[in-house]
Amino acid sequence: MIVGVFYCCMKRLQYLDGYNLSLSTLMVKKHSPFSLLPEAETAYQNWRSWKLSVYPKQASEILVAINDPFSLSSEERDLINQCFLRANMAVYTINNVSDFANKKIVQTLGKEFGLLRLDNNLGADDDSITSLQVIAGGQKQGYIPYSDKKLSWHTDGYYNHAQEQIRGIILHCVNPAAEGGENALLDHEMMYIHLRDLDPAYISALMKPEVLTIPANVENGTEIRGAQTGPVFSIDTETGALHMRYSARKRNIIWTDDAVTTAAVSAIDDFLASDSPWILRHRLEPGQGLVCNNVLHNRTSFKNGAGSEHQRLIYRGRYYDRLAGTYFNDTAKAMSS
Ligand SMILES: [Fe+2]
Repeated sequence: MIVGVFYCCMKRLQYLDGYNLSLSTLMVKKHSPFSLLPEAETAYQNWRSWKLSVYPKQASEILVAINDPFSLSSEERDLINQCFLRANMAVYTINNVSDFANKKIVQTLGKEFGLLRLDNNLGADDDSITSLQVIAGGQKQGYIPYSDKKLSWHTDGYYNHAQEQIRGIILHCVNPAAEGGENALLDHEMMYIHLRDLDPAYISALMKPEVLTIPANVENGTEIRGAQTGPVFSIDTETGALHMRYSARKRNIIWTDDAVTTAAVSAIDDFLASDSPWILRHRLEPGQGLVCNNVLHNRTSFKNGAGSEHQRLIYRGRYYDRLAGTYFNDTAKAMSS
């Protein structure tokens, strides 16, 4: 019933103006499973049980074959949406398009899933989609995404301004490397459950608005991006969904200096380094793509081969939008069906 109340609150939220939003925010906090308020405990327990029952046991469960990315069938769309609801992610596998380098695939699938507002991040191409590949020299040199080194655990855009948080991502594989380049993926909602099971005080610490600061990015004396401070976990008041902002990096990152936060960050690190079955591992093949609500992810190091088909090339779209059909009212509907 509490989920039903929350669902009603979220429906109402769609029509509220700025003044009423604060009232709705309170309602969301009272009934959200991601809230630590005592009155939200039942909502959390109900959602937790459901989530544990539907979360995939292996990466193959989030793979969905599609015939034509420019015209999905209703069955394909439904299968992908089910993956979104279960794990905040899906991996499509295109069966019959030979030109996987066509960027329109990313643009079309983004629109298909409600990802409309692209983040024009540093390093993106003119169309705001980024070609992730090894680049020697130039401005991108020194940035790990453009190297063959491993990428540690993170969510995308953890250094972005609060108004430009990355909620959705597409990673489309044109070519894999000759060796390596596997992604590990963890739905951030599962990380939330893990930490709250360990100690709800960890969640409380990680929801504090000052808990994580990424210092300004300064190149040759010029500030490219200002320092950004914000929470790790937050509840999106527009969608009721859980958002996570995180990087495992140890340099150029400032955590609030208190014992609970230190223990919480250590618990995150330990879990991400574990062999938990909740961590899904997959190496994208040509014509495959990860579509997700900015779940936690990393990348192993890789080695490119001689031919162009063995030079790793991934198109990345980062969006301010969350995937359509994954607002918390959609989860509530899935829970009650
Ligand atoms: Fe990333």
